[in-house]
Amino acid sequence: MKLFKKMSIGVIALAALTACTPTVNQVEDHEQTVKNPSEETADHLQENNDENKKDSDQAAKNNNEEKKKLPTLAETITKGENGKDVVTNPNDILVVANKERRLPSDYIPDDLAEPNVPFTFEEDVPKKLMRKEAAAALESLFNQAEKENIHILAQSGYRSYETQQAIFAYNAKRYGSEEEANKVSAYPGESEHQTGLSMDITSSSAEYQLVEAFGETKEGRWVAENAHKFGYIVRYQKGKEQITGYQYEPWHLRYVGIEAASHIYKQNMTLEEYLQ
Ligand code: DAL
Ligand code: ZN
Repeated sequence: MKLFKKMSIGVIALAALTACTPTVNQVEDHEQTVKNPSEETADHLQENNDENKKDSDQAAKNNNEEKKKLPTLAETITKGENGKDVVTNPNDILVVANKERRLPSDYIPDDLAEPNVPFTFEEDVPKKLMRKEAAAALESLFNQAEKENIHILAQSGYRSYETQQAIFAYNAKRYGSEEEANKVSAYPGESEHQTGLSMDITSSSAEYQLVEAFGETKEGRWVAENAHKFGYIVRYQKGKEQITGYQYEPWHLRYVGIEAASHIYKQNMTLEEYLQ
C-alpha cells in the first residue's frame, strides 16, 4: 500500500536524521578552526565585536525580512471546484486549512513518518503518521513531558481526504445534519489533519478520550503551557471559535515551528490571526 511505502521511507529518513550527529573528528576539526581569543590583541577583539554587531544587525534584518516574506492568507488561495477556495501552499509548515480554505483533495504529504511516541492503540495505521519535521518535534515534546512526569498519548495524526469523507458522513448521521457535524468535524478537505502537521493527544486522566475535560487535566495544562517550545500550538482555542470555526479542542496540536508557535502562544493568537 502506497502509504505504508511512504511510511517506511519516512521512518528511514527519520533514522537518517538521527544519524546526522557530528562525529568526534568533525567536532575536533571545527574546534581547530576557532581562534583562541587569548592570542588576540584588544584591537582585534574590538574589530571582532564590531563585526559581531554587524552580523547580529544583519541577522535581525534578515529575520524581519523573513517575517515580511510570510505569505498572507489572501495570497495562498485560488478558486477551486464549486467556487470554493483551495490553498496553494499545502506543503508549507504554516499552511492554513479551515472552513474557508480547503486542501487539494489529492494532496498527500510526501514525507510522512511515524513518531516514536506512545499511542492509545497498537495497530500500524496511517493515523499514526505525521510529516517528518512535525514527527521529530512531537518526539521532543513527549520526551520532555515524560521527564516532567507528564504522561500523554497520541491518538490521531494524518488523515487522508477519503478518511475525512468517511468521518464526516458518520458525524453527519450522528449529529443529525452536516451543519451540526461541521461544528466539531471538518468537511472533507478542510481538516488540517490532511497536512500531516496535526496530532490529537490525550491521557489516562481524560480516560483516553478527545474531550474538553483534557484541557483541565494536569497533562492538558502542561501541553497548553509548553507545546510552543517544541513548535506546536493548541489550534482551536476557547474564545476563538469565531475565528477558527471550531469548538475548543485542547487535544488538537498543530505544528507550525518554534518561532510562529512562540509568537502565537505569547500573544494568545490563532494561526489565522498570526498570518493576517
Ligand atoms: N476536529 C477537527 C476540526 C478536524 O476534524 O480536523
Ligand atoms: Zn484533531
